[in-house]
Amino acid sequence: MPLVPDHIKNLVPYKAGKGIAEIERDYKPERIVKLASNENPLGPSPRALQAIEASLAGLHRYPNPASMGLRQALARRFDVLEENVISGHGSEGIMSVIMRTFLLDDEEALTSEGTFIGFRVLAQSRGIRLRTVPLKDYRLDLEAIAGAINDKTKIVYLANPNNPTGTIFTVKEFLAFMEHVPSHVLIIMDEAYFEFCFEEPVYPDSMKYRLDNVITLRTFSKAYGLAGIRIGYGFARAEVINNLMKVKLPFEPSIPAQEAGLAAMDDEEWLKKYIDLNKEGKRFFYETFEQLGLRYIESHANFVTLVFDTEKQVARLNERLLKKGVIVRPLAAFGLPHCLRVNTGLPDENAYFADMLKASL
Ligand SMILES: Cc1ncc(COP(=O)(O)O)c(C=O)c1O
Repeated sequence: MPLVPDHIKNLVPYKAGKGIAEIERDYKPERIVKLASNENPLGPSPRALQAIEASLAGLHRYPNPASMGLRQALARRFDVLEENVISGHGSEGIMSVIMRTFLLDDEEALTSEGTFIGFRVLAQSRGIRLRTVPLKDYRLDLEAIAGAINDKTKIVYLANPNNPTGTIFTVKEFLAFMEHVPSHVLIIMDEAYFEFCFEEPVYPDSMKYRLDNVITLRTFSKAYGLAGIRIGYGFARAEVINNLMKVKLPFEPSIPAQEAGLAAMDDEEWLKKYIDLNKEGKRFFYETFEQLGLRYIESHANFVTLVFDTEKQVARLNERLLKKGVIVRPLAAFGLPHCLRVNTGLPDENAYFADMLKASL
């Protein structure tokens, strides 16, 4: 019997883009601007930093395994009960718990092509079959996904907005899709970029519908600027949450992560500042791309994806940008080799990116 099962041996590990230290070492550019991982360029809320600091003296104690404080605060904010809330090691941590909780070996997961890689890695590491449906005009094709559900489908993963395309599906599309979903199928609604688009009337906030077989995942990593501490949360009916709570590691998330999430939630001003900054950044990106005659996908999140003709064009442009210290994300690993994603930064970072882009084309 092999030590490593085939589904693990064949797994391609998640490969993040080049980091700041690597670029410094390899290219020694004058300046580094990282716009590759959809992070908040303003950093964490000062209140979150204070809360983290205040929590440090208590680190000899284990966290409360039920994360009561944070779950209660989230329940109040989103008008549900604590029993409907889970918090975890990033929203991806909760996704991992979902994959361990609900899947039997011969059951399948279903999602779109050109979506968040994390889900594919989790499905493959679980050793189950993952089926995918092509994107349609860079959007999730909900009709085709509904049509692909079969008796073995247990989990359907939908990112809305989708990473890396930044597109959304609408209320109408979502409701029509849910009509086709049998009750044995659990829908993961990954709303990691919710804060950037929840006010758009056509955006379906999945929490509004209180559907029995939907789990909504959200995170403090993006709009709240806490990607490094790993804190995310999810909402579902009590039976789903109760079973996830049995399977999750008892002491995740850590004490500083829980405290940071609680404090960040209260700093609405900080959040708004970034939401506005992102809107302005996207406007500037669109204007720049139009001036340069570049094709892009209109985005509902904090990043924009550029569409080129070939992978080679993307690789050449990416290499030139890296040499100038601009880190963006080529999308071959996402199944979109002719695309390049860039998130909005601070105004001077956006301007530097635009200048370097012009110089590199
Ligand atoms: C769609 C989507 N879901 C989840 C995540 C991971 O979020 P977290 O940091 O909460 O694990 C990301 C991060 O890039 C993402 O783009």
